[in-house]
Amino acid sequence: MDPESFAHVEKTGEYRDGTVLVKELVAVGSKEESSGKGYFQGDFSGLEISVKDSKRFPDEPGNWAYFSFGHKYPLKAETAKNGATSCNSCHEKNATKFVFSDLYPVLKDSLQKAKK
Ligand code: HEC
Repeated sequence: MDPESFAHVEKTGEYRDGTVLVKELVAVGSKEESSGKGYFQGDFSGLEISVKDSKRFPDEPGNWAYFSFGHKYPLKAETAKNGATSCNSCHEKNATKFVFSDLYPVLKDSLQKAKK
């Protein structure tokens, strides 16, 4: 997340207009290393971005638009927003305020502190 929007989350517990989230997709590499068994990071395998902006995306649910730069390298240099049904609907239905914050310990902690 961009730093200004993260500071806003820490203060208010809300995602402001202009929030940008970038997700690097990473393949699972090996499942066993000298430290033991687990899921060890493999190669980068894609890049996805979500942007909240009520002025640019007034018609998207929650004003969140979703962009995919592809699932293989080299990534696309440019991309257009995906249709709401392909990305947004899963986030709207299954995440908290469109973001899977329960899976990100730092963000989750900041949201909980902002509520107090
Ligand atoms: C079937 C459900 C589903 C669909 C469809 C989906 N996502 Fe997600 N998305 C997830 C889950 C679960 C996570 C959290 C786990 C993770 O990071 O992999 C996530 C995380 C993300 C994140 C990180 C920020 C956040 O909201 O948690 C971005 C950015 C993102 N997805 C973009 C996209 C884009 C772009 C598309 C469409 C091309 C898309 N997603 C479609 C389930 C979905």
